Amino acid sequence: MEEKLLMVKEKLEKYGQEHLLNFYETLSENKKNQLLDELLTMDFKQLQDLYNSTKTQPNYEGAKIEPISHVSKEELSEEELEKYTTIGEEEIKNGKLAVVTMAGGQGTRLGHSGPKGTYDIGLASHKSIFEILCDNFKLAREKYGVVIPWYLMTSDENHEETVAFFEKNNYFGYPKEAVQFFKQGTLPMINTNGKVLLDEERMPKLAPDGHGGVFEAMRKNGVIYSMQEKGIEWVFIGGVDNVLVKPIDPVLTGLATEKNMLVACKSLVKANPQEKVGVFCKKDGRPNVIEYIEISEEMANAKDENGQLLYGEAHILCNQFNIKILEELANNKLPYHAAFKKASYTNENGEVIKPEEPNAYKFESFLFDAFSLIPDMLVLRVKREEEFAPVKNATGVDSPETARNLYNNFHHLN
Ligand code: UTP
Repeated sequence: MEEKLLMVKEKLEKYGQEHLLNFYETLSENKKNQLLDELLTMDFKQLQDLYNSTKTQPNYEGAKIEPISHVSKEELSEEELEKYTTIGEEEIKNGKLAVVTMAGGQGTRLGHSGPKGTYDIGLASHKSIFEILCDNFKLAREKYGVVIPWYLMTSDENHEETVAFFEKNNYFGYPKEAVQFFKQGTLPMINTNGKVLLDEERMPKLAPDGHGGVFEAMRKNGVIYSMQEKGIEWVFIGGVDNVLVKPIDPVLTGLATEKNMLVACKSLVKANPQEKVGVFCKKDGRPNVIEYIEISEEMANAKDENGQLLYGEAHILCNQFNIKILEELANNKLPYHAAFKKASYTNENGEVIKPEEPNAYKFESFLFDAFSLIPDMLVLRVKREEEFAPVKNATGVDSPETARNLYNNFHHLN
C-alpha cells in the first residue's frame, strides 16, 4: 500500500492534482485502496488535453458541408412499402435484429431522482418509460414469433437501480434471459482550473462519457461478441427517452438490407429553421450531424427548389447499424465535447458544495460523430407524430406532459 501511495503521489504531482489525496487519511481501508487504484489508472494526460480543449472553439470553417439525400417513408409507393416490409420482417423473424437502449444518461433536465426509464409520464396505465419501451418487444414476439434480445446501457450511477427496477417488475413480462445490462464508461469532471473534482464521498467525481461511449462499452462488455454468437445482423441503437420509438421496424430493416447500407437512421422534418435539433448533412463527403449551435443562419434557412429546408432532416437518435460496422466503430476513438454543468463537490475544507451556477466541465462523446467513419448511410424520414415523443425537460417542451399527449394521440387513448 505504501508503495502504491508513493506512486500515486508522484503521478499527481506531475499533473498538479495533489488535492485528490487531501482526505485520504479520513477514508476506510477499502476506500483508500479503491482511490489509489482509480488514481493509478486515471489518464491525467488526456484530462489535461481535454481541459485545454475547453479554451478553444470548434472550427468548422474549411469543412465542406452539403445536404444529404433521404428517403421519405410517406412517399414510398404501396408496392415499395410492401417489398421493404416483407424483407425486413424476414430478417426479424429469422432472429437477425437486436436492440440497444442507451439509458446511461443523467437526465439532469428532467430532474427525476431515479433512472429516466423508471419515470411514470402520467399515462392512465401508469406504465414507466421502461415498460412502454418493453411493449415494443412483447408486440414483436406476438407478431413475429421471436424474442428479440434487448441490451440496456446503464452507467455507474444508475446501474443497480435500473436492474432492481426490472427485477421488481418481473421484466414487464418479457423473458429475463433476453434482457442484458451493460455499463458505459466514465470520465472525471474538472473545475475551471483543470482540477478533478472530489464527490460527496471524497472520491474523484466521475460522469458518464456520453452516448458516443456506446460502441466502446459494447465491445468492452462483450455485447458485440454476444450478438455475433447469436447470429445478429442488425442492431437498433436508440435513447431511453422517446416513448414513441419504434426499435423494431421492418421498413427500416428492409430498406437497409435491400440497399446494402451498413447504417440506417431515422429523421424527422425540422419543424422550422430555428428548431433546436441536430440535422443530417455531409461533411467532407461523409455523413454527419451538424448541431443546432453550429449551424449558420444562412444554412439553417437555405431551401431547395421545392421550397424544403436543405438541411431539414432532424436527427432523433434512432439509428440502426449492421453488426459488421460496429466493431470498427468501437475501435475508433470519438472526440469529446465539453459541457459546462452544475456539479456538487467536496471543497478543500471538506464541505460539500452544491453550486447554483455551472462550475465544472463534463466530457461526452456523441454517437453521431461516428457517422463520419462510414462511407454512406440511409436516412429515412418518418412522421413526427408517429415516432417522436421525447421526455427531456420537467415542464414545457419535450416534457412528460407533451410526451403523454403525443403517446395518447398515437394510441387513440384520449
Ligand atoms: P441526452 O443527451 O438527452 O441526456 O441523452 P440525458 O442524460 O437523457 O439528459 P440531460 O441532458 O442530463 O438532461 C440522450 C440519450 O442518450 C443517453 C440518455 O440516457 C438518453 O437516452 N445517454 C446520454 C447515455 O446513455 N449516456 C450518456 O452518457 C449520455
